[in-house]
Amino acid sequence: MGYFILMLDQSIRELESGSLARIAAAESLEALEAVRVEVLGRKGALDQFFKQMGRLAPEERARAGKLLNGAKQTVETALETRKRQFAEAALHARLDREWVDLTLPSPGPRRGHFHPITRIQGELEDLFVSMGFTVLDGPEVETERHNFDALNIPRDHPARDMQDTFWLDGGNLLRTHTSPVQVRGMERLGPPLRMLAPGRVFRNESVDACHEHTFYQIEGMMVDREVSVAHLIYFMKTMLAAVFKRDVAVRLRPGYFPFVEPGFELDIQCLICGGSGCPVCKQSGWVEQLGCGLVHPNVLRAGGIDPEEWNGFAFGLGLTRLAMMRYGIDDIRHLQGGDLRFLEQF
Ligand code: PHE
Repeated sequence: MGYFILMLDQSIRELESGSLARIAAAESLEALEAVRVEVLGRKGALDQFFKQMGRLAPEERARAGKLLNGAKQTVETALETRKRQFAEAALHARLDREWVDLTLPSPGPRRGHFHPITRIQGELEDLFVSMGFTVLDGPEVETERHNFDALNIPRDHPARDMQDTFWLDGGNLLRTHTSPVQVRGMERLGPPLRMLAPGRVFRNESVDACHEHTFYQIEGMMVDREVSVAHLIYFMKTMLAAVFKRDVAVRLRPGYFPFVEPGFELDIQCLICGGSGCPVCKQSGWVEQLGCGLVHPNVLRAGGIDPEEWNGFAFGLGLTRLAMMRYGIDDIRHLQGGDLRFLEQF
C-alpha cells in the first residue's frame, strides 16, 4: 500500500506541474479550455485519481484527498489567472488601437461655402449698397397687380403670354420676375430712391440646359430727377465689370418690356464658348443677360410717384445665367440639382 501511495503522490504532483506548464504555455482560450477538460472535466485526469481513492485505507484516503483537492485548486487558480491575463492583453491591445491624444489641437469644424448664386448675389448687393442702393426683399407669391398691372402690362396684353405664369388658387401667382419689387419699393421708399431686389422667380417652362421653372433674378431701380440712359449704362457697365473682373463684350439692343420706355436688352458674349456657338447661347455666340430701360411713366404713377417731377431707370438680371457665365457652367440644371460633386467645385 505504501508504495502505491508514493506512486499516487508522485503522479498527482506530476499531473499538477504538467498542467501548470501547459497553462503557462497556452496561447488561446481554446487551449486553456482543452487543459480544463482534460484535467478537471468529468472523466478527466483528476477524476480518475478520485476514483482510485476507494482503494486506500481511510487515513491515507484523507491525505490523498487533500492532495488531490490541493492540485485541483492550484490548476483551477492557474486557469483563472491565465484567462485574466488574456483578457487584460486584449484590453491593452484595444487601448493601444483606440488611444487618443487629447492634448492635440482639434482639426476644427469643416468649412462650408456659399452656393455660386448666393456668392454673386452677395457681391452685387455689396457693390450696389456701396453706390447708395437699398436691398429689398419681396414675396415670391405675388398679386396680379404687382406682377403685371402696376408694371403697365394690361390685362389682355400679349406681354402676359411672354411669361408663362404659375397661377395659384384665388388669383395670386408665383412671381415671374423680380420687377414687382419695383412697385413695392416705390410704395415703401418714395422718391428719390435706389433699390436692389434679388430673389427667386418662377415660370411655367419645360426644363432644358438653359431653362428652369425656378431661377434667380436681381432687380435694380433708381428714381431721381433727370435720370438718363447714360446713367443706366454707367451702372450696367460697373456691374458687369465687377462680376466678371475682366473685359466682356456686350451689345445693347432695343428691347420691349411694357414697364420701360425706351427699353433695351443687354447681351454679353457667351463665355462658355467664347462666342463661337454652343447650346447655352443657342449657337448665336451671345447670351441675353439683362433687360433694362427708363421707367415707364405709368409705372411711376402706379407706385405713387409723379412722372412730371421724377424719372428713373430699372434693370432686371438673370442671376442664374450670370453664375453660369462666370463659372462656365453649361447646364442650368446643375445649379439647383443639389449634387455635391458639382457644388464642391466652387
Ligand atoms: N422683368 C424683366 C424680365 O423678367 C427684366 C426687366 C427688368 C426689364 C427691368 C426691364 C426692366 O425679363
